[in-house]
Amino acid sequence: MPRVTVIGTGYLGLTHAVCLADLGHEVLAIDVDEEKIAKAASGEAPFFEPGLEPLLRKNIDAGRLRFSMSFPEVAGFGEVHFLCVGTPEGDAGRADLSFVEAAADALAPHLTSECLIVGKSTVPVGTARRVLSRVRAAAPAGRRVDVAWNPEFLREGFAVQDSLAPDRIVAGVTSPRAEALLREIYATPLAAGVPLLVMDLETAELVKVAANAFLATKISFINAMAEVCEAAGADVMPLAEALGYDARIGRRFLSPGLGFGGGCLPKDIRAFRATASELGVGSVASLLTTVDAINQGRRDRVIALARQVAGGTLAGRRVAVLGVAFKPNSDDVRDSPSLAVCDRLAAEGAIVSVHDPVAMANAARKRPDLTYARTVFQAAEGAELVLHLTEWSDYQAIDPAALAGVVARRVIIDARGTLDAGLWSDAGWSVRILGRP
Ligand code: UDX
Repeated sequence: MPRVTVIGTGYLGLTHAVCLADLGHEVLAIDVDEEKIAKAASGEAPFFEPGLEPLLRKNIDAGRLRFSMSFPEVAGFGEVHFLCVGTPEGDAGRADLSFVEAAADALAPHLTSECLIVGKSTVPVGTARRVLSRVRAAAPAGRRVDVAWNPEFLREGFAVQDSLAPDRIVAGVTSPRAEALLREIYATPLAAGVPLLVMDLETAELVKVAANAFLATKISFINAMAEVCEAAGADVMPLAEALGYDARIGRRFLSPGLGFGGGCLPKDIRAFRATASELGVGSVASLLTTVDAINQGRRDRVIALARQVAGGTLAGRRVAVLGVAFKPNSDDVRDSPSLAVCDRLAAEGAIVSVHDPVAMANAARKRPDLTYARTVFQAAEGAELVLHLTEWSDYQAIDPAALAGVVARRVIIDARGTLDAGLWSDAGWSVRILGRP
């Protein structure tokens, strides 16, 4: 079996390293961040991801997973090197490829034998081929280096499951040897029936951004329908349900509400828009501009509704916010729609008290000026308005009658539409739900 290295131990890289080790591979993972490596090596995941930490410890203990900060060691160890570094949003929405380039530059001069570099990061089309020439130019003479692209589709909160049992494995390759190596690495999921789709490098790079663009478009579509429902006095919830029964449409990613956020969809659609513009494909650029605008519009809509139910102004109003993670089962607040709403509430002079089951520490690092409450009841103490912004299942278990006892006014806006509106109304609450009459 080929020995494997993973370059970059962020969300994607650490999960990938752990899952490859769990599939039985010998894995050496590297990062330039000493703290991340120290934490991972001691068996601690630096972010919240259900199921990851026990698997990390199991594979460290089994001796299959090690961590390093030395590129010469990594280059000497692996036959296959997975590139899992971040591609954050750069100028004008373009992907910032500096980490990809830095990783390739750090690895290339130390390569001692024939190897395959496999990119997993989400990149603009054309990056893989540029990485290939960059590495070939910097590798010691006579070393045969190949590059493949194998995009990752994992969702936060389901990262382990998505990595070990993905819907499909996409492999962009330039040689039969690269395909053979990837088949060997993914032998277990392939034997379990996971389809392998082999294609050229450019198409593989595009599959990832096209998938995320489609998912974002689907969410923005249903949110645009929510706007129509609001204007027409109709109800987006049964509308979404009825659309979802059409097998060609499907119910998943058709939940209306506050829109999408997180470390992937928002930045990926902006990067794809920039690429499409550079390629002269105006249709994709304008489609994604609209998708982004609809998504941002949901945040405006919640603020407008909050202002309206607060009597025309948010200045001096006590607002309790339930949920600050960009989605449930995650501690991630990157591009969190909820945190953006909190920012706007505070900017309009509201006194904001925030609760989240796991994301408060991350939120507090970004917005130390907000008040963070340890319980929902503490957050709601004296509130004139409660905003339900991230649909943690814990919030569905709130007893509205008990919560009524601590607020100043029984008014709630459910921006995700997952609370039992009847139950809240019966307890004397005035309930507003985005997209519902
Ligand atoms: C996403 C992609 O799903 C994944 O394939 C890719 O690799 C990375 O980006 P992730 O960001 O973890 O994964 O979250 P996901 O579960 O896809 O949700 C994205 C956002 O869309 C969240 O903010 C979520 O709240 C929102 N969403 C999702 C909706 O608003 N409505 C829906 O119906 C589904």
